[in-house]
Amino acid sequence: MSRKRAAILISGRGSNMTALIEAAKADEYPAEIALVVSNRPDASGLKRAREAGVATVVVDHVPFGEDRAAFERALDAKLQEYRIDLVCLAGFMRLLTPWFVGRWSGRMLNIHPALLPQFKGLHTHRRALEAGVKWHGATVHFVVPEMDAGPIVAQESVAVHENDTEAMLAARVLEIEHRIYPRALRALAEGKIGLTAADSKKEAG
Ligand code: GRF
Repeated sequence: MSRKRAAILISGRGSNMTALIEAAKADEYPAEIALVVSNRPDASGLKRAREAGVATVVVDHVPFGEDRAAFERALDAKLQEYRIDLVCLAGFMRLLTPWFVGRWSGRMLNIHPALLPQFKGLHTHRRALEAGVKWHGATVHFVVPEMDAGPIVAQESVAVHENDTEAMLAARVLEIEHRIYPRALRALAEGKIGLTAADSKKEAG
């Protein structure tokens, strides 16, 4: 079986990206990381990707201003150029339009640092501490037009400790993220999971 060509989209340090690159080094891993794309030229993950020998491109969103569609067309063109089959969002801090999500429907995953459907959006660790939950965690899900709402592919939890700070909790959740994302990409690349037509139509709220 030929390996699927995966792209990882980042905006920052790319620790999940690194976990995926490491996992994909194994001969029997069903995907290769063919490209890393950042929307920020200064993302530190870019250097890490290059050091790992992975092709990188920057599609800076700033020159596109409010024109999200034009930004996404440029992004999509890069993914086509590198003959990408699957996309992993890993700390990619841009909301995607239904057009882009539709094009990659069933072929695009995201990792979210919370036990979805709890704590969609930003600052998940702070909000978990404020809410007083005893369990927190991370989720990999298919991307659908509605943010952080796609079907769940992988999820693991960690106990919240009495004296946890946001940083302490984030660090424990990150360990989980690095474990479940490679597992989820494997399942997708092996064709073991997919989206139904009904799933992929879930609209942006
Ligand atoms: C992770 O916590 C991820 O779940 C969230 O953004 C963070 C990115 O971290 N979406 P990194 O760039 O992968 O280190």
